[in-house]
Amino acid sequence: MNDKNQVDDRFCLAGNRGAVAAETPAIIPQPTELILKDGAFELAATTRLQFGTPAAAETARQLAAMLAPATGFHLIPTAHGANTAAIQPAILLTTAGADATLGEEGYDLSVTPATVQLRATTSAGLFYGCQTLLQLMPSALFAETVQAGTKWRLPAVTIRDAPRYRWRGLMLDCSRHFMPVPFVKRFIELLAMHKMNRFHWHLTDDQGWRIEIKKYPELTRRGAIRTESPRPGNRDRGDGEPYGPFFYTQEQIREIVDYATERHVVVVPEIEMPGHALAALAAYPELSCTGGSFRPRTKWGVEPDVYCAGKDQVLQFNRDVLTEVLAMFPSPFIHIGGDECPKERWKECPHCQARMTAHGLKDTHELQSWFIKQIDQFLAANGRRLIGWDEILEGGLAPGAAVMSWRGVHGGVAAAAAGHDVVMSPSSHCYFDYGQSGAVGEPECFCGHLPLATVYSYEPTPVELTVTQRPYVIGVQGNIWTEYLWKPAHVEYAAYPRACALAEVAWTAAARREFGDFWRRMQLHGQRLDARRVQWRRLSDDQR
Ligand code: ACM
Ligand code: ZN
Repeated sequence: MNDKNQVDDRFCLAGNRGAVAAETPAIIPQPTELILKDGAFELAATTRLQFGTPAAAETARQLAAMLAPATGFHLIPTAHGANTAAIQPAILLTTAGADATLGEEGYDLSVTPATVQLRATTSAGLFYGCQTLLQLMPSALFAETVQAGTKWRLPAVTIRDAPRYRWRGLMLDCSRHFMPVPFVKRFIELLAMHKMNRFHWHLTDDQGWRIEIKKYPELTRRGAIRTESPRPGNRDRGDGEPYGPFFYTQEQIREIVDYATERHVVVVPEIEMPGHALAALAAYPELSCTGGSFRPRTKWGVEPDVYCAGKDQVLQFNRDVLTEVLAMFPSPFIHIGGDECPKERWKECPHCQARMTAHGLKDTHELQSWFIKQIDQFLAANGRRLIGWDEILEGGLAPGAAVMSWRGVHGGVAAAAAGHDVVMSPSSHCYFDYGQSGAVGEPECFCGHLPLATVYSYEPTPVELTVTQRPYVIGVQGNIWTEYLWKPAHVEYAAYPRACALAEVAWTAAARREFGDFWRRMQLHGQRLDARRVQWRRLSDDQR
């Protein structure tokens, strides 16, 4: 791909637009149980929208807001109080009488020609029920402008639904390429539409520091700009174009976290340490082993200069940074990276060597492990939990740490076997920066290819685990590294439809998953993505 502002329109614009009718509901992710009945409910401007309990009021307001753009109906939710009990509400959301066995995110939904009734024990469950409700309607519902003349019918149906995993994530790398605030919100909104609930936000790396830290202003003054980047189409040459400064202010971050919270998405920040830290070292070179000087990396790949694990000021710096991070992000888990930390500087550094001697650490893997344990203690003392890439296992895992298994599944298996929580994210099935097919003309990508069918085939709980170890696999996540994704359109193209497949892997019981049926539903779901103007990668046979 030579023009970095365009995704290849052979895949993006050629279409199967409008081809499929919705005879059978095409919900993605597939619900646990769905029984189609006779008849349909028709939404109208006069439809009553009611909440049965105060806990359902906010979701009812959200539903009204989600219905408004395409229908043009401005439904005003009202309480379904005792005095109106005799009147059947047309749409009722309630926590009363909800089935607790469906868990914290489950719901049941009953549509008849006269009423729509949605029950869940929590607002998250009600929110997911609303997502299903929207997908029962014509795909034009997903348009952002009024679609006059559409009959807003939902087939009569009863649905009982609950997720398989509690961590259903997508990671977006905003270091290699920065993504503007409105796009980050849109990315989160699309996650929520697919009942995903974790946005892992990769905010720092060798190539750019993207989060404002008030105590260390040089991080964004020096670390958020690079002199050039690898050239699209030829990664061995620079493009000669300064990139940045690009970063998110604390105010913008709070706005994004609030936006996500309203949609039941937890934003998990990732602050990389001890490796992938060159942008921070460019700002504060005294935090390295050698003293520098440095500038943010202008090539992709891994940088040999990392934080010095021997200097106390490095730990203090990271605690200070995390203190500000904790104030911005309520997430119970904080991701500290931990991957791909070259150890060559540590082997030569007197501070690192002195640390190893003082603590009886036999090699630099144990030094990395010691470093991560300090951070684990800091997070635990502040009521949070550490999660890191599977390299944090090397040299011994910190007591409270959870592991994100990316180099295959072995890290996940080892961590679960040792009683640690695990999120599975192996590059073999979850790296959406790989190409979507081996076809000529597929856009430039990191390497290889990962077709839709392979993502869909993923079984996150490794067969090696015993029955008692399996619950430590808390979920699954797709990763969108952006070395070769320059703009929002490229990110959407890489993410969709693979994120739809992953959402189903994360939500739907294995026994309810079948690729042929997913492919059928995906044809119709594609119309929804079109209505939302998502730059998704069209279905083609080489994705199967
Ligand atoms: C990674 O892909 N380095 C986690
Ligand atoms: Zn050192």
